[in-house]
Amino acid sequence: MTSTQAVILVGGKGTRLRPLTSNRPKPIVPLVDRPFMAYMLEWVASHGVTDVIMCCGFLADSMVEEIGDGSRFGLHITWVVEPSPRGTAGALWYAKPHLRDERFLMLNGDVLTDMDLTAQVEAHVRTGAVGTLALVPVEDPSAYGLVRLHPDDAVRGFLEKPTPEQIDTDLISAGAYVLEPSVFDLIPQDRLVSIEREVWPRLVGNGLYGSVHRGRYWMDIGTPTRYLEGTRDILSGRVLTQVARRLEDGPVDPSATVGDGSVVDRTALIDRGATIGPRVTVGSGSYVGPGATVGEEAILENAVVLAGARVGAKARLRDCIVGVGAVLGDGVVLSDAAMVGDGATVADGNVLTHGVRIGPGASIAPSTVWF
Ligand code: GDD
Ligand code: MG
Repeated sequence: MTSTQAVILVGGKGTRLRPLTSNRPKPIVPLVDRPFMAYMLEWVASHGVTDVIMCCGFLADSMVEEIGDGSRFGLHITWVVEPSPRGTAGALWYAKPHLRDERFLMLNGDVLTDMDLTAQVEAHVRTGAVGTLALVPVEDPSAYGLVRLHPDDAVRGFLEKPTPEQIDTDLISAGAYVLEPSVFDLIPQDRLVSIEREVWPRLVGNGLYGSVHRGRYWMDIGTPTRYLEGTRDILSGRVLTQVARRLEDGPVDPSATVGDGSVVDRTALIDRGATIGPRVTVGSGSYVGPGATVGEEAILENAVVLAGARVGAKARLRDCIVGVGAVLGDGVVLSDAAMVGDGATVADGNVLTHGVRIGPGASIAPSTVWF
C-alpha cells in the first residue's frame, strides 16, 4: 500500500486501568519502555500507513507532548478533538475533513497486536468489500463484537457484546477495519452513532467482510491483568514489537547498574540509569524503568516498576505495577495485580494483594495493610 490514512479512536476514559490512567490518558500509559500508543503507531507504520488522524474526546497536552506530530514514527499525525462525544461511528465525521476520498483504515486505539494489516487490505481488495473487519479467535467473545462468517468470508451476522446463548463462534472483531469512503452513507450525522451497533449490522449482506488473523498476537490491554500479560508478551517477544529488537542487546541497558549476585532474566528489561542492588532477582516479564532503584535482595516476577520509583530491600513484587516516582519501603509485598499510583508511598512492611490499588500521591504508613 502506498500513502494510506488511518483513523485511530482514542476517546475512551480507561477507568479500569486506574491509577495508571488517573493522571494520564490511556494512550500514553507507559507499557514497558514506551507509551502504549507507540506500539500502535510502529505497527501501522510497518504496514504502509503514512497519515494518522487521532480522534480524541479531549486533548491532553501530555498526549500531544509524548506523541507529537508522529515524525518519530515516520508518520504525520493530525489531532482531532471532538466537541461532543459521538460514539465510534460519529467520531468518523470529525475525521472526514482530513480524509482523502479513498480507502482508509480505522483502528480502535486500545489494542496491542501484530496482525498483518497488509494481508487484510489485500483481502478487502480481493472481495471488493465496502468494509473488512480484522477477526481474531478468543476464548470468551462476550466482551467483544461477535462475527459470524459465510464460507467466502462475507459477514453473516455481527453482535456487539453477545449474551452467552448467542455465542456460536470464537471469532470477534479485533478493532481494525479497512473501509471505503461510501461507509459514510451509513452514518447519520450530528448524533451519537456506534459503528458496532448501527453501522456493521446494516452492512451485513451489503459488502461487509471479515479477514481472519490466525497465529498473530492480539490483546485489548484495558485491565491490569491484561496490562501485565501484555508486558510479559512484549518482553518475551510473543508479540512482535520494536522492544524485541532492543532486547537483542540484552536485558540490561548499558547505563543501568546491577549489583553483585543479582540475576536478571532474559525476558526482563532494566532501563536507562536504573540501579539494581545486590542479590536481587529480576524474573521474567519484569520491567524497571529509567532511574528507578531496587533495594538489595528484592524479588521481582512480572513486576512493573516505572521511571524513578524506589523499591526497598527485600521487597517481593509479583504481578504488580509501581507508578512513576512511587516509593516502596523495605519488605513490602505486592502481588495479584496490586497497583501503586505515581508518587505514592507505601512504607515498610505493608502487604498489598488482591488487586488493591493505591491512588497517585497517597501514603500508607508502616505495617498498616495486609490484604
Ligand atoms: N474518538 C472517540 N470517540 N473514540 C471512542 C469513542 C468516541 O465517542 N467511543 C469509544 N472510542 C474508542 C475507545 O477509546 C477505544 O479505543 C475504541 O473506540 C473502542 O471502544 P471501547 O470502549 O474500548 O470498546 P470495547 O473494547 O468495549 O469494544 C470494541 O472493541 C472490541 C475489540 O477490542 C468494539 O469495537 C468491539 O466490537 C470489538 O470486538
Ligand atoms: Mg476496548
